[in-house]
Amino acid sequence: MHPAPPRTVDLRSDTVTKPSPAMRRAMAEAEVGDDVYGEDPTVLRLEALTAELAGKEAGLFVPSGTMGNQVALAAHTTRGVEVIAPEGAHVYEYELGSMAVLAGLMPRLVPAPGGVPDPEAVRGAVSPGRHQAPTGLVVLENTHNKAGGTVVPLAVATAIGDVARAAGVPYHLDGARAWNAAEALGVPLAIVCAPFDSVSLCLSKGLGAPVGSVLVGARALIDEAHRYRKMYGGGMRQAGVLAAAGLIAVREGPARLGDDHRRARALAQALDGAPGVAIDQGRVQTNMVYLEIADARGFVVELEAHGVKANAMGARAVRLVTHLDLDDDDVAFAAQAVRAAAEAWAA
Ligand SMILES: Cc1ncc(COP(=O)(O)O)c(C=O)c1O
Repeated sequence: MHPAPPRTVDLRSDTVTKPSPAMRRAMAEAEVGDDVYGEDPTVLRLEALTAELAGKEAGLFVPSGTMGNQVALAAHTTRGVEVIAPEGAHVYEYELGSMAVLAGLMPRLVPAPGGVPDPEAVRGAVSPGRHQAPTGLVVLENTHNKAGGTVVPLAVATAIGDVARAAGVPYHLDGARAWNAAEALGVPLAIVCAPFDSVSLCLSKGLGAPVGSVLVGARALIDEAHRYRKMYGGGMRQAGVLAAAGLIAVREGPARLGDDHRRARALAQALDGAPGVAIDQGRVQTNMVYLEIADARGFVVELEAHGVKANAMGARAVRLVTHLDLDDDDVAFAAQAVRAAAEAWAA
């Protein structure tokens, strides 16, 4: 039996943050209307601001990143086509088969070492569709969660866009953490989003909003996505109470993502050489640290006994994520606790 840890630091995800007092105030005071009728002024402001920051014509507020991706996939395609995506992509691994269930789409994964597909591999995966399902869409993920929160270089994102254009198919970005990519690349969000026809941006991850994502793209695409949002049960009424927190997230969240990235690097460095744990330091590019360990699920239990909550991502990977509700002291505590857990585990 372990004694109870002195405290618990939650590194499972950047989604675990609680809305700040300023967000709660803004939510309480939000000007609202019926958003299914397009009459919620706070939602309209959030959609317009996010679209502007992403360099796109229009935006659509949706309840989750999964819905942002799925309404985009449905709006871009017809049933029976293939969606090319990088291996490990959230749309394939963690959206419960929804592209198949809801939109009749087949994923075709391409290798993506470090989360970065080779544009030539994407070109090779394009199907003309005579005796095979034709390619209907190309998807990229930036940052790539399962690869370690890794950043896709702009030149690669652009080159894959050229492949999609040559194939005559649209190009979607799962940009759940595109703001983290922009921070790591040192460019505005619009530069990260530029090669894509649509981008799903999450407000409830590093930016700290309690709920919501915004899909951005051309007006016609967003109008079509609006139809799917309603079909999928995502038509919200006085959603301005949520969008009010989202506006604060979009205005204030991006400027502090560098702190999360610095803390993830510090955590990874402090854990270098911990027994039984391997870290690919080169993949610690944003707010995630992946530990490779023999028994990920067992180690997560050991971590919790030492005061750190983490997620097992498969049999041999444990993910630690820095976020808005942590400070330097929390991260220093977590580093010590993870090392102690590794030592106890190895003993
Ligand atoms: C890369 C990526 N895309 C999409 C999502 C889906 O977001 P949500 O949990 O809001 O549906 C996540 C969630 O963690 C994610 O990491």
